[in-house]
Amino acid sequence: MCGIVGYIGNQDTKEILIKGLEKLEYRGYDSAGIAVVNENGVHVFKEKGRIADLRKIVNEDVPAQTGIGHTRWATHGVPSTVNAHPHQSSTTRLTLVHNGVIENYELLKREYLQGVELQSDTDTEVIVQLVELFIKDGLNVEEAFRKTLKLLKGSYAIALLDAENSDTIYVAKNKSPLLVGLGEGFNVVASDAMAMLQVTNQFVELMDKEIVIVKQNEVTIQTLDGEAINREPFTAELDASDIEKGTYPHYMLKEIDEQPLVIRKIVQKYQSEQGHLTIDEDIIDAMNDADRIYIIAAGTSYHAGLVGKQFIEKLAKIPVEVHISSEFGYNMPLLSEKPLFIFISQSGETADSRAVLVQIKKMGYKALTITNVPGSTLSREADHTLLLHAGPEIAVASTKAYTAQLAVLAILAEVTGKRRGYEPSFDLVKELGIVANAMEVLCDEKEELEGIARDFLTVTRNCFFIGRGIDFYVGLEGALKLKEISYIQAEGFAGGELKHGTIALIEEGTPVIALATQESVNLSIRGNVKEVVARGAYPCIISMKGLEMDGDSFVIPEVNDLLTPLISVIPLQLISYYAALHRDCDVDKPRNLAKSVTVE
Ligand code: G6P
Repeated sequence: MCGIVGYIGNQDTKEILIKGLEKLEYRGYDSAGIAVVNENGVHVFKEKGRIADLRKIVNEDVPAQTGIGHTRWATHGVPSTVNAHPHQSSTTRLTLVHNGVIENYELLKREYLQGVELQSDTDTEVIVQLVELFIKDGLNVEEAFRKTLKLLKGSYAIALLDAENSDTIYVAKNKSPLLVGLGEGFNVVASDAMAMLQVTNQFVELMDKEIVIVKQNEVTIQTLDGEAINREPFTAELDASDIEKGTYPHYMLKEIDEQPLVIRKIVQKYQSEQGHLTIDEDIIDAMNDADRIYIIAAGTSYHAGLVGKQFIEKLAKIPVEVHISSEFGYNMPLLSEKPLFIFISQSGETADSRAVLVQIKKMGYKALTITNVPGSTLSREADHTLLLHAGPEIAVASTKAYTAQLAVLAILAEVTGKRRGYEPSFDLVKELGIVANAMEVLCDEKEELEGIARDFLTVTRNCFFIGRGIDFYVGLEGALKLKEISYIQAEGFAGGELKHGTIALIEEGTPVIALATQESVNLSIRGNVKEVVARGAYPCIISMKGLEMDGDSFVIPEVNDLLTPLISVIPLQLISYYAALHRDCDVDKPRNLAKSVTVE
């Protein structure tokens, strides 16, 4: 969370920084700021709120060749102009932006900064004040920065400006993502390549505990101890149009509509010339060697993991456990003898998941990351990666990444199963084609789903989702979608579980959305609906063609039993979208959330 940019060159620095921040707003959007340095010193502009609010206060008349910027998701200190980045040292010589959490900032404050009056409540300000303190002790900026970095415990991506030296940006990272971008006569810094695609597609990855001196025509990477590092740039294979909304009112709607295309692309990417689904032999060996698979993920990716467990257990017959990453590290289950860890993460940056990856690597175990972002931290640090090929997902609420995760998990399960001698009873390539077509049909039924959202969710305080078997997991994702963007309190339950307590919350008119896509539990889930209706609930049954009954609110096209989550989630995504819209919520940037959560 939080996004960082930096630019040094002859173009319009302020505009490049602000445009970059607009692209990083998904990482946090409670306040933002930029600082530019020229021969007259450093000029800082910062504002509570969105980048659009920042844009209004930036003084166009300040020329500058060098600058840094930040969009914030508050951890230490409320969202406010004072706590917004950049932060400055007492003399204002140094100006700094930071993404991450400095765990020992209180201690550092007590030990080193007793005499310094801090302006903000942030952990970040401690960093910039320490650099200044060490300069006062006689070190130059680079030495003081190094000394400070060695004292920090926690995560950071940092860009630092020195008012007395306007041709340098000092950069460092540990755990939080950061890239340096290279151009002809300019260089840039960004948390995500997306931010700087406007000027370059050549980037250099930075590793933990590296320090980088960025100048207009030169980039020097070193370890904290001063050892030089040579690293080749890579080309960011992003299409600038992928990160634009086009004619859509919201990224979320665009991303929902992209799902059929994404599924077709995944099939194409994982298909051999002979038309078979194929996955890197090393990955299939690792799957086959495991006596148990541990899926680790957070949020929507965790929900994808729950469905993925069904795929792997049914198609490859390997036992699977699914764990929430923020719990796993502290509450590790008894591991099997030959575990394989699968990390599912759209961003590949989620700090909770990364903490587990670091832990299990230390224990000597192997890991596979399933992610949408090539070169992301979880991808780099795992032994293997499978990409989602979903294109950038920008709306905070995940949609196309979820269905892409399911498709890739299904392919992984099928290929592993075949290697283990289990021939599936269906042709997955064909079935995923049917899924993509069904997705298209659903995306064309927006009006009907908008009507359901209006009828059920305009005035309610809460909403329950129920399902049995695989539908239960989709219900969890439906509830998460709804609460994330519409702020309706929504919970998903196994159909049979509601009566063991939660049914006490059912009142006259409480919406209950039930999924009925599985023949084996069709009658029992409908029995559960009757129980809540008898207590006043307002039911919305979403069933699958062939299983529908009178009174169902919406019927999805028929697809293979196991693959229903790929399409039953789409009406839930659209209902959530329209519920949020009708409640005047900010669909793409819901309150308190961020897309990439890089703090634990
Ligand atoms: C954040 C986002 C969620 C997302 C979760 C996991 O909380 O708001 O939408 O599901 O992180 O993200 P990941 O990138 O690891 O899939």
